[in-house]
Amino acid sequence: MSLVQDVPDLATLQQRAAERAAARAGGAERLRGHIVCDGLVRIFTTEGVEVVALQGLDLVVDRGELVAIVGASGSGKSTVLNILSGLDTPTAGIARVAGYDLLTMSARKRLRYRRHTVGFVWQQTGRNLLPYLTARENVELPMRLARRGGRAGRRRAMELLEMVGVGYCADRRPGQMSGGEQQRCAVAVAVANDPEVLFADEPTGELDEATAAEVFGALRAINAELGVTVVVVTHDPQVASQVRRTIAIRDGRTASEVHRRARIGADGVEELVTEEYAVLDRAGRMQLPAGFVDALALRDRVKLTLEPDHVQVRSGEESGAA
Ligand SMILES: Nc1ncnc2c1ncn2[C@@H]1O[C@H](COP(=O)(O)OP(=O)(O)OP(=O)(O)O)[C@@H](O)[C@H]1O
Ligand SMILES: [Mg+2]
Repeated sequence: MSLVQDVPDLATLQQRAAERAAARAGGAERLRGHIVCDGLVRIFTTEGVEVVALQGLDLVVDRGELVAIVGASGSGKSTVLNILSGLDTPTAGIARVAGYDLLTMSARKRLRYRRHTVGFVWQQTGRNLLPYLTARENVELPMRLARRGGRAGRRRAMELLEMVGVGYCADRRPGQMSGGEQQRCAVAVAVANDPEVLFADEPTGELDEATAAEVFGALRAINAELGVTVVVVTHDPQVASQVRRTIAIRDGRTASEVHRRARIGADGVEELVTEEYAVLDRAGRMQLPAGFVDALALRDRVKLTLEPDHVQVRSGEESGAA
């Protein structure tokens, strides 16, 4: 028997990895039409120095979900978003959005993907809108480029502006709108061509708290009304209260998730409960929250003990040794 024969080819390996990702995600149908990253790696090389921006990031977002990605500066948030929106290519791993394989797609498919499947909102208000067009014209522009302009395009532009709450700005140019109004208009522009997924990288980074909440409201409206899957990156921890699921990235890896769900309390009144989970990867790795590590001064190695219904983690420092 030849050993070589037993080694599956790359395509089989990739298929198997995708199947495992699907199994972990709870079914193959969840792989299609939304977002799956598995063991995603992105290494940047500048002047011979390698920076590992993503080191095996796992992420599954359901179709129609609205999730926030939070994390410290440099943790890899923009890198993931640039990959998912087709602007950058990963070094290794699996990245699929709406059935597109972002590692292997051709240049032509990538262009189609970026034009029709995804929409993007940038942090800098000036980057999202053309200054010499009115809000309505800005929303109409992508439709025109996709040959969907005309009267129907104008009607849709107005509907979208109303949906994000800035219908009254239709005839104003960006210079005549506030930062928050511009970002809400940018959300309308990003979904003009009816994408399946909307990515926003710190869309509220330049705004104050109240205005940021309005932009979040616009993202929520788009998500709910159009069923667009929305992924928004922010380093504002307050957003956890605005979305059902917040994913925290640390050092290029998915570290934890915060889920919010409604529950009927003892008094019969509906209340929102927040639960934080550590993310376990396929190899069984997880990150301990920095606060836990500091509290017990954990370092180098820890001792794990399997208990009937939980795992105990103790300092690996030998105590009481003679
Ligand atoms: N084009 C690039 N070339 C080299 N290194 C890069 C490049 N882009 C990002 N990096 C590095 O990758 C890491 C992750 O960067 P990224 O921009 O994804 O972080 P971020 O979480 O978006 O941070 P911020 O909150 O500051 O926007 C950083 O160490 C960064 O310096
Ligand atoms: Mg960034």
